[in-house]
Amino acid sequence: MFFPTLSDELIDFGLLPLSLVASAASLEEAGYPADEKASLGSLEYRQKEAPDYFMGAKVGAELAGFICGTRCEEFVEETMSTHSPSGPILAIHSVCVAEEYRRKKVATSMLRQYVNDVAFSPTSSTITTIALIAKQHLLSFYVSCGFTVIGLSEIVHGKDPWFHLTLSLTDYRKSKFYVVDAFTSTPGCGNPAAVVLAPPNATDEAMQTIAKEFNLSETVFITRAPAGAPGYSLAYFTPTTEINLCGHATLAAASVLFAHPSVDSPTLDFDVLRSGLGISAESIISINYVGPSGQASPEDILVEVTPSSFSSLGPVDLQALKATAAYHHGLIVCCEGDASGASGAQFSSRFFAPKIGIDEDPVCGRAHTILCPYFSKKLGLPALDGFQNSERGGVIKCKWEGGRVYMRGERVIVSSGQLEGISL
Ligand SMILES: *[C@@H]1O[C@H](CO)[C@@H](O)[C@H](O)[C@H]1NC(C)=O
Ligand SMILES: *[C@@H]1O[C@H](CO)[C@@H](O)[C@H](O)[C@H]1NC(C)=O
Repeated sequence: MFFPTLSDELIDFGLLPLSLVASAASLEEAGYPADEKASLGSLEYRQKEAPDYFMGAKVGAELAGFICGTRCEEFVEETMSTHSPSGPILAIHSVCVAEEYRRKKVATSMLRQYVNDVAFSPTSSTITTIALIAKQHLLSFYVSCGFTVIGLSEIVHGKDPWFHLTLSLTDYRKSKFYVVDAFTSTPGCGNPAAVVLAPPNATDEAMQTIAKEFNLSETVFITRAPAGAPGYSLAYFTPTTEINLCGHATLAAASVLFAHPSVDSPTLDFDVLRSGLGISAESIISINYVGPSGQASPEDILVEVTPSSFSSLGPVDLQALKATAAYHHGLIVCCEGDASGASGAQFSSRFFAPKIGIDEDPVCGRAHTILCPYFSKKLGLPALDGFQNSERGGVIKCKWEGGRVYMRGERVIVSSGQLEGISL
């Protein structure tokens, strides 16, 4: 199974309503040469006939890109303009990104998520193959998204030659696994764990059976977070039972995520967490990279640790946090529960951004735009309070609704004044 990157999650990508098809048509109009582009009418037809396969990426209210396709029995020119609801092939017709979002890996993120959503959507379980045609200069892009070039296409569409590419969903749906020896660089030493990339609908029973089959002390299952929430979730099983947390399996899972060719985020090395914050590998529950993919380093990193490790953080070595190239904005460290003991918050956090001149932010709204969806999905709560455990401390009331974060908090005005000798 091909695994999308952590940062893919940040794109607000999902089914596109009919009301946005006109915006899609404008992108199509700007993005394809005259002899290739689909008209508003044919995009509307695709959205009405095959709404499950028409998805868009939004940035705020704006459409940043879209992908659409229809199902067919056979991938030939005539069937590309119709939709046969039980066809085993999904033909992709457009992968289109607005000019201002190009060269930011938006298309890569969209297409990987599109493939993943189709692969595991119950309505698409009889689709075996995704097919498309592409011009030569886009072949490497499609290959990086998991497609295979079959050869020159017989479909003639516009004046240039087209290539036929396919992606086998049957193979994609099969879970890949790794066996990792943790805490050693010598095969056969250290502590072995099995790491399985699991589909979102994996059941506990199935995971338990697989863990029993591996018969290693732990098997860890990595599932990407539900659409719209950043990160991955990990589930740990011994051959006989599920357990809460396992240090060496977490390290094993992290090494698979970092080493996996489709995960192109740079690694935050554990040394930085240890030397910068005094966090041990055993206390890490998840590491999530946040920000557009394709940059040398992500903007922010969210590290969830155990509550006891969170409470005993530090002393913080700001120089170490500043020196690492692993991120370029800030580092969020968080845990489930209320570290203050009195605020009633569902999660607690601290935010360090020495790289941009904020050693530690006392109460940070930006960090909560990442924390809120993360814990909302994890705890299954739409509304929750976050306690920021800085020296000043504060509580942010957050709500995760319709792909947006709403925040409010108490506040008190403690001073006011007017500018003198300088004007705006
Ligand atoms: C999970 O989804 C896949 C693809 O839709 C399907 O083939 C499989 O049976 C599902 N598994 C479970 C346990 O529902
Ligand atoms: C599983 O591993 C345990 C512990 O190493 C061993 O005692 C047992 O025989 C193994 N079971 C199988 C079926 O290999």
